[in-house]
Amino acid sequence: MDFIRCDGAALTLVFALEAGGTGDCVYCGLRLPADEGLAALAASHARGRHESQPDAPPRPGLLPERKGGWSGAPALVLRRNGQAVDTDLRLENCDHAEGQATFAFVDPVAGVAVNVRWQISAGDIVSATCTISNRSETPLEVERLAALALPVPARFTEFTTFSGRWAAEMQEHSSAIAAGGIMRESAIGKPGFAGAGWVLLHAGEETLGAHLAWSGDAWLTLAPDAQGSGDGRAMLMMGAGWSRGEVVLPPGESYTTPPAVFSLAPDRSALAQAFHVHARTEVLPSRATWGPRKVHLNSWEALGFNLSEGGLMALAQSAASLGIERFVLDDGWFGGRRDDTSSLGDWTVSPDVFPNGLDPLIDHVHALGMDFGLWVEPEMVSPDSDLYRQHPDWCLHVEGGARPTMRGQLALDMARTEVRDYLFTRLDALLGEHPIAYLKWDHNRDLFPSGPGQAEGFYALLDRLRAAHPRVEIESCSSGGGRIDFGVLTRTHRVWPSDNNDAIERLRIIPAWSQFLPLEVLGSHVGPSPNPITGRRLDMDFRAKVAMFGHMGVEADPARMTEKDRATLAAHIALYKQWRGVLHSGALHRLAHPDPNVTGMMVTHGEKALSLVAQTEFSPVFDAAPVRLAGLEPEARYRVTLPEPWPGKARHYLANPDAWRQGLTLSGAALMGHGLALPLTHPETAWLIALERLPQ
Ligand code: DGJ
Repeated sequence: MDFIRCDGAALTLVFALEAGGTGDCVYCGLRLPADEGLAALAASHARGRHESQPDAPPRPGLLPERKGGWSGAPALVLRRNGQAVDTDLRLENCDHAEGQATFAFVDPVAGVAVNVRWQISAGDIVSATCTISNRSETPLEVERLAALALPVPARFTEFTTFSGRWAAEMQEHSSAIAAGGIMRESAIGKPGFAGAGWVLLHAGEETLGAHLAWSGDAWLTLAPDAQGSGDGRAMLMMGAGWSRGEVVLPPGESYTTPPAVFSLAPDRSALAQAFHVHARTEVLPSRATWGPRKVHLNSWEALGFNLSEGGLMALAQSAASLGIERFVLDDGWFGGRRDDTSSLGDWTVSPDVFPNGLDPLIDHVHALGMDFGLWVEPEMVSPDSDLYRQHPDWCLHVEGGARPTMRGQLALDMARTEVRDYLFTRLDALLGEHPIAYLKWDHNRDLFPSGPGQAEGFYALLDRLRAAHPRVEIESCSSGGGRIDFGVLTRTHRVWPSDNNDAIERLRIIPAWSQFLPLEVLGSHVGPSPNPITGRRLDMDFRAKVAMFGHMGVEADPARMTEKDRATLAAHIALYKQWRGVLHSGALHRLAHPDPNVTGMMVTHGEKALSLVAQTEFSPVFDAAPVRLAGLEPEARYRVTLPEPWPGKARHYLANPDAWRQGLTLSGAALMGHGLALPLTHPETAWLIALERLPQ
């Protein structure tokens, strides 16, 4: 048996290599000393054979198969001529360089070769892919192939998965890794709201997070070694989902999965920071060159489909007076689309709304000092559209079958070159003819019937458009957060986490997404009150403070706000501009509080830090427990202030407002251990806490 190790900054992976046998990850944890004895480490966890196990106990390792008596789910399901192919893949070779290892497995009898590649990249994130090659003379159907098969270190006994629905994305469910295991799957042609692409495993505070970087269907399984056929460890697997017959390899051909990424860290904040470093350095396109994330005003919750040139100009005028920097024209600007029943596919400016074309509005927006963004939903077609009348066969459909709609629309077959060419021509013309700085790229219908190659087709169109218009920023939206993943984020600049702008809902949704995604990509808008989805009425102060922790925007009509609300909103937009450099580059910390209705987040960056602490319910006590901060240097001194405006209901309970205005000087140790006592009794109260580290 040979052993190799791969080291990140704070992470070590140790692999055991059994030539002609298995490759296994026998250690996955905090970085080990350079002279750690790897054979001894493996021996310390080795298991002897027990009763009810095959005589040669199976070692599923990095490529679990149904061979030698392993009873768990296999990492690959293959067919030839409709018959199942049972593989016996054996380790032939391992190519190992700093921070990466590629394990080559071969089964000469089945004519199959598999390369499993793990690489540690920025943030100590491990990126895993799997390549399968057909080395036989007949086609090989790949029904399932895991990008990642991770034998779970035995100390991880709990897990969290995410489920959701429209307007209620990323709901967390935690439980023990128990017999039976779990299977999560999306089957609508995109990640959707099912959360199959994200999972957390817990060993006390220590947390392991994994994600499939793919914008199509995804599956994940987490199964204990329930029948004891293996070595007692659970197995986590993730992969892209596809329909039968979608991946068939001719002789000599290969297929590589999209990457699954994972890492582990001492707690959830540290894990979030690892994913954010990774996203900033390896995922987001040219992140280092991005300017400040501009404050948006989006027309959707302000005007809906009630669009006119005059109304939009007035909206832009009142947006600019608040300090808005980008005006985004949402749905309803094209073809005959006056509601959501028609015109998707007809990507030409509507003469009914814009008798003089789009340019007068764009000129007006520019004259007000803002740039201009536009909503599109390229992959869709309305049955009532010129495009559909010309090309009824371009949508996903079964020949001769029914064509069920969703939101009155059908989905185009993105695997077809002529479809992508048409969409490219239309979008290229729009971007070429008008100075458009930003596209909100929506996708509101599930893909049914399914069709092969849809995610690949989407990527190809997006890549071609970005190459032609490299300065245009793009947001991935899918009825809110239905298409959010690191695959789309290698091609886009922002996601729309949810259609739900209700600040109380956002206090759950933003922390959930920010477990994996940095704040600068999470669109975070101040919506109207009452909120159109939840009906809740919330103070502007509360809505605006919550919206600051993300990529801030407004999705309401300022003209319909009171003068006081406009002033409050403008003040928070100014605060966001002052603090976005910190919020969008720093390290995010999740703050714990004994009251479950208090949400706390904090971002530290250089000598500055900003925290948001929000109470959603009426507290059972008059004096809420102090808020303990995180991520500070214990020995350093910080000047602490509470940026104004202060929440109307709670400000009266500050014992000494002037002291807070002047700033309190406290050590990092005091702030993290002793905390700050803030009025957090009333429902819908939020405070900002600003910190500046003082010179030594
Ligand atoms: C769904 C999106 O999530 C909304 O923000 C909005 O753009 C509508 N589509 C427009 O149809």
